[in-house]
Amino acid sequence: MSYKSFESIAHEMLTNQKFLRLAHESHHGITRLDHSLNVARKVYKYAIKLNLDYVSATRAAIVHDFFTNAEFLSNHGLIQGVVHPDIALANARGEFEINDKEANMIESHMFPLSVVMPKSKEAWLLTGVDKLQAIYEYASYKFNYRKATDRLSYALGCMILFAFFMITKGGE
Ligand SMILES: [Fe+2]
Ligand SMILES: [Fe+2]
Repeated sequence: MSYKSFESIAHEMLTNQKFLRLAHESHHGITRLDHSLNVARKVYKYAIKLNLDYVSATRAAIVHDFFTNAEFLSNHGLIQGVVHPDIALANARGEFEINDKEANMIESHMFPLSVVMPKSKEAWLLTGVDKLQAIYEYASYKFNYRKATDRLSYALGCMILFAFFMITKGGE
């Protein structure tokens, strides 16, 4: 079976000027654009391996953090963690055609911090990969333990994904 390339799925976003503003936003010690693409490349890879809807999974992963710090004014910290998925979804809907699965993936990616539950395996995949990637990026930036965190994050990732798939087995 042949799959669409990551680049062909990402093309629409990577040629959108508003989305490309994320290249100037700092996020876990790198740019928000780089973080988003790091998460999306892993989601793309795992979604294909797990025979999921890899196109929607990748599209939602690319725009899951589609927000700028200026959109929060002084509301940083925990509030930003809770609110930013809704802002990302509004921004994504303003620029792209977002289907229901993609919308839930974006809204629920901070679960359990957000009140919106992931409703699909693709949404569980995104919330798991995003957390592990955030830990990896932050630890790499803070402590430069790149190799150690790489191995640790992948080991944890396998465990969390296994747990998610057991929980959602038989679901959507
Ligand atoms: Fe996020
Ligand atoms: Fe993220």
